[in-house]
Amino acid sequence: MKQTLTLALSKGRILDDTLPLLAAADIHPLEDIRRSRKLIFDTNHEHVKLIVIRATDVPTYVEYGAADLGIAGKDVLMEQGAQEMYEPLDLEIAKCKLMTAGVVGAAPAQGRRIRVATKFVNVAKAYFAEQGIQAEVIKLYGAMELAPLMGLADKIVDIVDTGNTLKANGLAPEELIAHISSRLVVGKAAMKMKHRLIEPVIEAMAAAVVARR
Ligand code: ADP
Ligand code: PRP
Ligand code: MG
Repeated sequence: MKQTLTLALSKGRILDDTLPLLAAADIHPLEDIRRSRKLIFDTNHEHVKLIVIRATDVPTYVEYGAADLGIAGKDVLMEQGAQEMYEPLDLEIAKCKLMTAGVVGAAPAQGRRIRVATKFVNVAKAYFAEQGIQAEVIKLYGAMELAPLMGLADKIVDIVDTGNTLKANGLAPEELIAHISSRLVVGKAAMKMKHRLIEPVIEAMAAAVVARR
């Protein structure tokens, strides 16, 4: 039976940087992904298909082998503790930082646990535990910057790029947790069973990354 390769792409801002990288690696979807409502796309290679899903769903598809490869932010991989996959390539796209941030000039919480609002609950818990700080972590799904302003939390853990969102809301970046970029991930089972097909894709993507520098 002929083997196929499925590559899971994160929609949203990663996609904009992914498509030129794929083109440079000679992987061309047969339709304009950004204009289509479809979720699965054929490419110029008969055996290569692309699926376009939420960034946070990419590790799930790859872990279960429903996609062979994926492109996901390191923040998402850290948060989900992605286990059943390899991370052979830093794509050097969607670069940003995972940071703590708080209200400019706020007095430190005294005599109580600090409250931290974030969508990166696991990363935040591990980070504050490592610092020896007892933190109560509150899960949010977006607009983390609002939480300290409304008294929901003392600090946030969030993505920072230009810093404009923090600044616009009277917050300031504090500590760097990790430098973030998007990574190519490969399922462990796929790497074993489809190595012959996957290896050239990794090589072409690696060359595309270098060419873009
Ligand atoms: P979501 O709806 O999950 O926030 P995004 O498309 O905004 O999806 O973000 C997808 C990924 O892009 C994140 O996991 C992160 O790796 C990266 N990212 C998020 N925000 C920024 C940003 N402001 N600048 C650069 N990269 C970002
Ligand atoms: C991301 C992130 C920050 C902002 C940082 O939000 O969660 O709010 O970008 O970028 P900046 O430092 O350049 O301002 P996004 O726009 O993706 O909104 P959402 O994830 O909450 O939908
Ligand atoms: Mg976002």
